[in-house]
Amino acid sequence: MTSVLIAGGASGIGAATVTRLRAAGAGVHVADIDAAGATEVVKAEHSGLGTSSYCDLSTPEGPGQAVADALAAHGRLDAVVFCAGLLVETELADFTVAEWDRTMALNLRAPFLMAQAAAPALAASPHGRVVLTGSTAAFRGGGGSFAYAASKGGLVALTRSLAVALGPDGVTVTCVCPGWIDTPFNDPYWQRVGGRDGAQQALEARIPLGAQGEPDDVAAVIEFLVSPGSRYLTGQAVVVDGGLLAS
Ligand SMILES: NC(=O)c1ccc[n+]([C@@H]2O[C@H](COP(=O)([O-])OP(=O)(O)OC[C@H]3O[C@@H](n4cnc5c(N)ncnc54)[C@H](O)[C@@H]3O)[C@@H](O)[C@H]2O)c1
Repeated sequence: MTSVLIAGGASGIGAATVTRLRAAGAGVHVADIDAAGATEVVKAEHSGLGTSSYCDLSTPEGPGQAVADALAAHGRLDAVVFCAGLLVETELADFTVAEWDRTMALNLRAPFLMAQAAAPALAASPHGRVVLTGSTAAFRGGGGSFAYAASKGGLVALTRSLAVALGPDGVTVTCVCPGWIDTPFNDPYWQRVGGRDGAQQALEARIPLGAQGEPDDVAAVIEFLVSPGSRYLTGQAVVVDGGLLAS
């Protein structure tokens, strides 16, 4: 049975991925700073084991601890999916070093440390997978999300280096890049632009498919990326944005 570690699986895209993979029979371990949410998301009965642990992934030790917890609970690891992220929206003149460092620690350092810690277990799997969560912010700017955009651009570059390093072990590394997905994650943006009302309408007018996506729209792609069927896809960013970047 496949065992998957989902970092940041208590909410949004991560939680939708937990639901999908467990319904498909996978064993899932959720590591999240929201311990109650992580416990809740794995409590449904499925054939695969669902476990969770508290973890602050932004610390240097957190990602390795999450991998150790997943291995202790499941005894093997076939895929790691890194969904946790931080969005700070601040005007250029006010953006602080602390905000920059907090963003980089979670959005860029933690996925690297998690892949590093999981690499031996993934190499032992017949279809080892690393799936990172980037963003269309890797490819387009947003006035206010300076560290966020830089971290997600870095993640796309990191995906390529990890794919090269882990390819000889048969482990693939991909980066799913969502556009606008309706989760609490974007609240800092709505606050910076003065509320959702008009801003949401203007945003959705720019999306060819006409609306923000749902977490499951991204989870469906992640399910494919962790599946054996994606075995020849590595080192790539996969954009899931309703056509926003194309417009
Ligand atoms: N929602 C969007 O529109 C969107 C767009 C592009 C990219 N993304 C990316 O997708 C990923 C998931 O976003 P989401 O919308 O599902 O967000 P979300 O806020 O719904 O979920 C994020 C999860 O990460 C966890 N988390 C936050 N900080 C943590 C930490 N220090 N340690 C451990 N866990 C932590 C939260 O508790 C939560 O469960 C993020 O990396 C985000 O950058 C989201």
